[in-house]
Amino acid sequence: MKRFIIPILLTILIAVPLIIFFESIDLTPVLASQQGRDVDSLLHVLYIIASIIFALVMSFLLYSVVAFRRKEGDLSDAKPVYGHVGLEIVWTLVPLIIVLSLGGVGASVLLDISHPPQADVLEVNVTGFQWAWSFEYPQYGVTSNELVLPVDRPARFVLRSRDVIHSFFIPEFRIKMDVVPGKHNELQLTPTQIGEYRTYCAELCGTGHAFMTARVRVVDPAVFDEWLQSQQQPVGGPSDPVAQGQDLYETQGCTGCHSQDGTRQAGPTFRGLFGSQVTLDDGTTVTADEEYLHASIVDPGGQVVEGFNNIMPGTYAQELTEEQIQALIAFIKSLQ
Ligand code: CUA
Repeated sequence: MKRFIIPILLTILIAVPLIIFFESIDLTPVLASQQGRDVDSLLHVLYIIASIIFALVMSFLLYSVVAFRRKEGDLSDAKPVYGHVGLEIVWTLVPLIIVLSLGGVGASVLLDISHPPQADVLEVNVTGFQWAWSFEYPQYGVTSNELVLPVDRPARFVLRSRDVIHSFFIPEFRIKMDVVPGKHNELQLTPTQIGEYRTYCAELCGTGHAFMTARVRVVDPAVFDEWLQSQQQPVGGPSDPVAQGQDLYETQGCTGCHSQDGTRQAGPTFRGLFGSQVTLDDGTTVTADEEYLHASIVDPGGQVVEGFNNIMPGTYAQELTEEQIQALIAFIKSLQ
Protein backbone atom coordinates (compact mmCIF):
# COMPACT_ATOMS: atom_id res chain seq x y z
CA MET A 1 0.00 0.00 0.00
CA LYS A 2 2.87 2.33 0.94
CA ARG A 3 4.15 1.88 -2.63
CA PHE A 4 1.04 3.66 -3.90
CA ILE A 5 0.40 6.21 -1.16
CA ILE A 6 3.80 7.90 -1.43
CA PRO A 7 3.76 8.35 -5.27
CA ILE A 8 0.13 9.55 -5.15
CA LEU A 9 1.02 12.15 -2.49
CA LEU A 10 4.03 13.12 -4.61
CA THR A 11 1.74 13.49 -7.65
CA ILE A 12 -0.47 15.96 -5.80
CA LEU A 13 2.63 17.81 -4.58
CA ILE A 14 3.90 18.26 -8.17
CA ALA A 15 0.56 18.70 -9.98
CA VAL A 16 -0.95 21.44 -7.81
CA PRO A 17 1.92 23.98 -8.20
CA LEU A 18 2.13 23.11 -11.91
CA ILE A 19 -1.57 23.86 -12.45
CA ILE A 20 -1.31 27.07 -10.41
CA PHE A 21 1.71 28.06 -12.55
CA PHE A 22 -0.09 27.45 -15.86
CA GLU A 23 -3.19 29.32 -14.67
CA SER A 24 -1.13 32.32 -13.57
CA ILE A 25 1.01 32.85 -16.69
CA ASP A 26 -0.46 34.17 -19.94
CA LEU A 27 0.48 31.83 -22.74
CA THR A 28 -2.03 33.39 -25.14
CA PRO A 29 -2.40 37.00 -26.31
CA VAL A 30 -5.43 39.12 -25.35
CA LEU A 31 -8.75 37.49 -26.25
CA ALA A 32 -10.69 39.57 -28.79
CA SER A 33 -13.46 37.36 -30.15
CA GLN A 34 -16.59 35.68 -28.84
CA GLN A 35 -15.62 32.32 -30.35
CA GLY A 36 -12.22 32.43 -28.66
CA ARG A 37 -13.71 31.92 -25.17
CA ASP A 38 -14.50 28.24 -25.76
CA VAL A 39 -11.10 27.71 -27.35
CA ASP A 40 -9.42 29.17 -24.26
CA SER A 41 -11.47 27.04 -21.83
CA LEU A 42 -10.50 23.95 -23.79
CA LEU A 43 -6.85 25.01 -23.58
CA HIS A 44 -7.13 25.30 -19.78
CA VAL A 45 -8.57 21.78 -19.54
CA LEU A 46 -5.58 20.58 -21.58
CA TYR A 47 -3.10 22.29 -19.22
CA ILE A 48 -4.74 20.65 -16.22
CA ILE A 49 -4.79 17.13 -17.72
CA ALA A 50 -1.20 17.49 -19.00
CA SER A 51 0.00 18.68 -15.57
CA ILE A 52 -1.62 15.72 -13.79
CA ILE A 53 -0.23 13.13 -16.22
CA PHE A 54 3.26 14.66 -16.09
CA ALA A 55 3.16 14.66 -12.26
CA LEU A 56 1.90 11.06 -12.14
CA VAL A 57 4.66 9.71 -14.41
CA MET A 58 7.41 11.70 -12.66
CA SER A 59 6.22 10.64 -9.17
CA PHE A 60 6.23 6.90 -9.89
CA LEU A 61 9.58 7.25 -11.68
CA LEU A 62 11.21 9.17 -8.82
CA TYR A 63 9.72 6.84 -6.19
CA SER A 64 10.98 3.74 -8.06
CA VAL A 65 14.48 5.14 -8.46
CA VAL A 66 14.72 5.66 -4.70
CA ALA A 67 12.68 2.72 -3.29
CA PHE A 68 13.98 0.00 -5.59
CA ARG A 69 17.62 1.06 -5.84
CA ARG A 70 20.35 -1.61 -5.52
CA LYS A 71 21.54 -2.09 -1.92
CA GLU A 72 25.23 -1.84 -1.13
CA GLY A 73 27.02 -5.17 -1.93
CA ASP A 74 23.92 -6.78 -3.50
CA LEU A 75 25.09 -8.48 -6.72
CA SER A 76 22.07 -10.75 -7.26
CA ASP A 77 19.76 -10.49 -10.28
CA ALA A 78 16.38 -8.83 -9.94
CA LYS A 79 13.23 -10.96 -9.77
CA PRO A 80 11.80 -11.44 -13.28
CA VAL A 81 8.40 -9.80 -13.85
CA TYR A 82 5.89 -11.26 -16.33
CA GLY A 83 3.50 -8.35 -16.75
CA HIS A 84 0.31 -7.33 -14.95
CA VAL A 85 -3.02 -7.70 -16.74
CA GLY A 86 -4.92 -5.33 -14.44
CA LEU A 87 -2.33 -2.59 -14.83
CA GLU A 88 -2.27 -2.97 -18.61
CA ILE A 89 -6.05 -2.68 -18.83
CA VAL A 90 -5.98 0.45 -16.66
CA TRP A 91 -3.22 2.24 -18.60
CA THR A 92 -4.90 1.44 -21.91
CA LEU A 93 -8.45 2.37 -20.91
CA VAL A 94 -7.72 5.58 -18.96
CA PRO A 95 -5.75 7.34 -21.77
CA LEU A 96 -8.33 6.09 -24.31
CA ILE A 97 -11.17 7.66 -22.33
CA ILE A 98 -9.20 10.92 -21.85
CA VAL A 99 -8.33 11.24 -25.56
CA LEU A 100 -11.85 10.32 -26.75
CA SER A 101 -13.55 12.78 -24.40
CA LEU A 102 -11.12 15.57 -25.36
CA GLY A 103 -11.90 14.81 -29.03
CA GLY A 104 -15.63 14.98 -28.23
CA VAL A 105 -15.37 18.31 -26.40
CA GLY A 106 -13.12 19.69 -29.19
CA ALA A 107 -15.62 18.66 -31.87
CA SER A 108 -18.51 20.28 -29.99
CA VAL A 109 -16.54 23.55 -29.59
CA LEU A 110 -15.72 23.46 -33.32
CA LEU A 111 -19.40 22.89 -34.22
CA ASP A 112 -20.40 25.69 -31.89
CA ILE A 113 -18.03 28.31 -33.33
CA SER A 114 -18.76 27.22 -36.93
CA HIS A 115 -22.46 28.09 -36.61
CA PRO A 116 -23.54 30.54 -39.29
CA PRO A 117 -23.99 33.91 -37.60
CA GLN A 118 -27.28 35.73 -37.15
CA ALA A 119 -28.61 38.64 -39.24
CA ASP A 120 -26.54 41.75 -39.97
CA VAL A 121 -23.49 39.69 -40.79
CA LEU A 122 -20.52 41.48 -42.35
CA GLU A 123 -19.22 39.59 -45.37
CA VAL A 124 -15.47 39.70 -46.03
CA ASN A 125 -13.79 37.93 -48.93
CA VAL A 126 -10.21 37.21 -47.89
CA THR A 127 -7.70 36.48 -50.64
CA GLY A 128 -4.25 35.16 -49.79
CA PHE A 129 -1.46 35.31 -52.34
CA GLN A 130 2.32 35.38 -52.42
CA TRP A 131 2.83 37.34 -50.18
CA ALA A 132 0.00 39.46 -48.91
CA TRP A 133 -3.66 39.52 -47.90
CA SER A 134 -6.46 41.35 -49.61
CA PHE A 135 -9.86 42.01 -48.00
CA GLU A 136 -12.94 42.65 -50.09
CA TYR A 137 -16.21 43.90 -48.59
CA PRO A 138 -18.76 42.86 -51.27
CA GLN A 139 -21.67 44.57 -49.45
CA TYR A 140 -19.91 47.93 -49.76
CA GLY A 141 -17.77 47.60 -52.91
CA VAL A 142 -14.56 48.18 -50.94
CA THR A 143 -11.22 46.35 -51.22
CA SER A 144 -8.44 46.99 -48.72
CA ASN A 145 -5.08 45.68 -47.59
CA GLU A 146 -6.06 46.02 -43.94
CA LEU A 147 -8.86 44.18 -42.19
CA VAL A 148 -11.19 46.61 -40.42
CA LEU A 149 -14.04 45.14 -38.37
CA PRO A 150 -16.79 46.84 -36.34
CA VAL A 151 -16.84 45.61 -32.75
CA ASP A 152 -19.62 43.15 -31.72
CA ARG A 153 -20.87 42.64 -35.29
CA PRO A 154 -20.63 39.04 -36.55
CA ALA A 155 -18.36 38.66 -39.55
CA ARG A 156 -18.23 35.85 -42.07
CA PHE A 157 -14.98 35.27 -43.97
CA VAL A 158 -14.73 33.43 -47.26
CA LEU A 159 -11.09 32.43 -47.75
CA ARG A 160 -9.54 32.00 -51.18
CA SER A 161 -6.00 31.59 -52.48
CA ARG A 162 -4.65 32.86 -55.75
CA ASP A 163 -1.61 30.57 -55.86
CA VAL A 164 -0.47 28.16 -53.13
CA ILE A 165 -1.75 27.03 -49.70
CA HIS A 166 -1.69 29.77 -47.07
CA SER A 167 -3.20 29.83 -43.58
CA PHE A 168 -5.25 32.69 -42.19
CA PHE A 169 -4.26 33.23 -38.57
CA ILE A 170 -5.26 35.96 -36.09
CA PRO A 171 -4.00 34.88 -32.64
CA GLU A 172 -6.22 37.32 -30.68
CA PHE A 173 -9.35 35.90 -32.34
CA ARG A 174 -8.15 32.30 -31.79
CA ILE A 175 -8.85 31.48 -35.42
CA LYS A 176 -6.65 29.74 -37.94
CA MET A 177 -7.78 28.21 -41.20
CA ASP A 178 -6.03 27.00 -44.34
CA VAL A 179 -6.53 28.99 -47.53
CA VAL A 180 -6.47 26.47 -50.34
CA PRO A 181 -6.33 27.19 -54.09
CA GLY A 182 -9.47 26.02 -55.91
CA LYS A 183 -11.48 25.87 -52.68
CA HIS A 184 -13.57 28.31 -50.62
CA ASN A 185 -13.11 27.93 -46.87
CA GLU A 186 -15.42 29.68 -44.45
CA LEU A 187 -14.94 31.14 -41.02
CA GLN A 188 -17.26 32.93 -38.57
CA LEU A 189 -16.35 35.27 -35.78
CA THR A 190 -17.55 38.19 -33.71
CA PRO A 191 -14.85 40.61 -32.54
CA THR A 192 -15.43 41.73 -28.96
CA GLN A 193 -12.45 43.93 -28.18
CA ILE A 194 -11.53 47.23 -29.83
CA GLY A 195 -7.84 47.25 -30.71
CA GLU A 196 -5.12 46.66 -33.27
CA TYR A 197 -3.99 43.18 -34.14
CA ARG A 198 -2.26 41.42 -37.03
CA THR A 199 -3.14 38.59 -39.31
CA TYR A 200 -0.36 36.15 -40.10
CA CYS A 201 0.17 33.38 -42.60
CA ALA A 202 0.65 30.12 -40.72
CA GLU A 203 1.63 27.90 -43.66
CA LEU A 204 5.11 28.06 -45.18
CA CYS A 205 4.34 29.43 -48.66
CA GLY A 206 7.65 30.61 -50.12
CA THR A 207 10.44 33.12 -49.61
CA GLY A 208 8.14 35.96 -48.54
CA HIS A 209 6.10 33.87 -46.05
CA ALA A 210 7.38 35.85 -43.06
CA PHE A 211 6.31 39.15 -44.66
CA MET A 212 2.76 37.93 -45.28
CA THR A 213 0.98 39.89 -42.57
CA ALA A 214 -1.72 42.54 -42.55
CA ARG A 215 -3.05 45.00 -40.02
CA VAL A 216 -6.34 44.12 -38.29
CA ARG A 217 -8.35 46.88 -36.62
CA VAL A 218 -11.44 46.32 -34.51
CA VAL A 219 -13.23 49.66 -34.26
CA ASP A 220 -16.41 51.36 -33.11
CA PRO A 221 -19.28 50.98 -35.68
CA ALA A 222 -19.18 54.76 -36.33
CA VAL A 223 -15.44 54.62 -37.08
CA PHE A 224 -16.10 51.68 -39.39
CA ASP A 225 -18.70 53.67 -41.38
CA GLU A 226 -16.25 56.58 -41.70
CA TRP A 227 -13.54 54.21 -42.90
CA LEU A 228 -15.91 52.67 -45.48
CA GLN A 229 -16.74 56.13 -46.83
CA SER A 230 -13.08 57.11 -47.09
CA GLN A 231 -12.40 53.87 -49.00
CA GLN A 232 -15.33 54.40 -51.36
CA GLN A 233 -14.05 57.78 -52.58
CA PRO A 234 -10.41 57.54 -53.64
CA VAL A 235 -8.54 60.86 -53.62
CA GLY A 236 -8.75 62.61 -56.99
CA GLY A 237 -11.63 60.42 -58.22
CA PRO A 238 -11.52 56.95 -59.73
CA SER A 239 -10.00 58.14 -63.02
CA ASP A 240 -6.85 59.44 -61.31
CA PRO A 241 -4.08 56.92 -62.25
CA VAL A 242 -1.94 57.84 -59.20
CA ALA A 243 -4.84 57.03 -56.84
CA GLN A 244 -5.57 53.85 -58.77
CA GLY A 245 -1.88 52.91 -58.59
CA GLN A 246 -1.79 53.53 -54.85
CA ASP A 247 -4.86 51.35 -54.47
CA LEU A 248 -3.16 48.55 -56.43
CA TYR A 249 0.05 49.06 -54.42
CA GLU A 250 -1.94 48.46 -51.24
CA THR A 251 -4.08 45.56 -52.43
CA GLN A 252 -1.70 43.59 -54.66
CA GLY A 253 0.90 42.78 -52.04
CA CYS A 254 3.51 45.41 -53.01
CA THR A 255 3.52 46.87 -49.47
CA GLY A 256 5.03 43.65 -48.12
CA CYS A 257 8.36 44.37 -49.81
CA HIS A 258 8.44 47.94 -51.20
CA SER A 259 8.12 50.89 -48.82
CA GLN A 260 6.90 54.33 -49.92
CA ASP A 261 8.92 56.26 -47.33
CA GLY A 262 12.49 55.17 -48.15
CA THR A 263 12.67 52.33 -45.62
CA ARG A 264 14.62 49.31 -46.88
CA GLN A 265 12.44 46.17 -46.91
CA ALA A 266 12.79 42.91 -48.86
CA GLY A 267 12.66 44.95 -52.07
CA PRO A 268 13.87 48.44 -53.05
CA THR A 269 11.82 51.38 -51.77
CA PHE A 270 9.57 53.25 -54.23
CA ARG A 271 10.47 56.64 -52.69
CA GLY A 272 12.67 58.58 -55.13
CA LEU A 273 13.00 55.53 -57.37
CA PHE A 274 11.74 57.07 -60.59
CA GLY A 275 14.51 58.78 -62.55
CA SER A 276 17.27 57.50 -60.25
CA GLN A 277 20.33 55.52 -61.33
CA VAL A 278 19.95 51.89 -60.27
CA THR A 279 22.92 49.52 -59.96
CA LEU A 280 22.02 45.96 -60.93
CA ASP A 281 23.54 42.79 -59.52
CA ASP A 282 25.68 42.32 -62.65
CA GLY A 283 27.38 45.68 -61.97
CA THR A 284 25.64 47.62 -64.76
CA THR A 285 23.65 50.77 -64.14
CA VAL A 286 20.25 51.65 -65.57
CA THR A 287 17.98 54.65 -65.28
CA ALA A 288 14.69 53.87 -63.53
CA ASP A 289 12.41 55.16 -66.26
CA GLU A 290 8.96 53.98 -67.35
CA GLU A 291 10.42 51.16 -69.41
CA TYR A 292 12.56 49.87 -66.53
CA LEU A 293 9.60 49.97 -64.07
CA HIS A 294 7.34 48.19 -66.56
CA ALA A 295 9.95 45.47 -67.17
CA SER A 296 10.52 45.02 -63.42
CA ILE A 297 6.79 44.48 -62.79
CA VAL A 298 6.20 41.94 -65.58
CA ASP A 299 9.62 40.22 -65.35
CA PRO A 300 10.99 40.75 -61.82
CA GLY A 301 13.96 38.41 -62.33
CA GLY A 302 15.21 40.21 -65.45
CA GLN A 303 17.01 43.15 -63.81
CA VAL A 304 17.67 42.50 -60.14
CA VAL A 305 18.92 45.44 -58.07
CA GLU A 306 22.31 44.98 -56.40
CA GLY A 307 22.01 43.83 -52.78
CA PHE A 308 18.54 42.31 -53.18
CA ASN A 309 17.31 38.78 -53.91
CA ASN A 310 14.50 38.36 -56.37
CA ILE A 311 11.59 36.89 -54.38
CA MET A 312 8.84 38.72 -56.31
CA PRO A 313 6.16 36.57 -57.96
CA GLY A 314 6.54 36.52 -61.75
CA THR A 315 2.78 36.40 -62.24
CA TYR A 316 1.89 40.12 -62.32
CA ALA A 317 1.93 40.16 -66.13
CA GLN A 318 -1.13 37.87 -66.04
CA GLU A 319 -2.79 39.34 -62.96
CA LEU A 320 -2.63 43.03 -63.90
CA THR A 321 -4.00 44.70 -66.99
CA GLU A 322 -1.77 47.07 -68.98
CA GLU A 323 -3.82 49.97 -67.60
CA GLN A 324 -3.18 48.80 -64.04
CA ILE A 325 0.57 48.48 -64.66
CA GLN A 326 0.55 52.04 -66.03
CA ALA A 327 -1.31 53.20 -62.90
CA LEU A 328 1.32 51.56 -60.68
CA ILE A 329 4.08 53.31 -62.64
CA ALA A 330 2.22 56.62 -62.24
CA PHE A 331 2.05 56.00 -58.50
CA ILE A 332 5.79 55.21 -58.27
CA LYS A 333 6.53 58.37 -60.31
CA SER A 334 4.55 60.41 -57.77
CA LEU A 335 6.79 59.26 -54.87
CA GLN A 336 9.60 61.72 -55.37
CU1 CUA B 1 1.29 32.59 -47.13
CU2 CUA B 1 2.88 31.65 -45.65
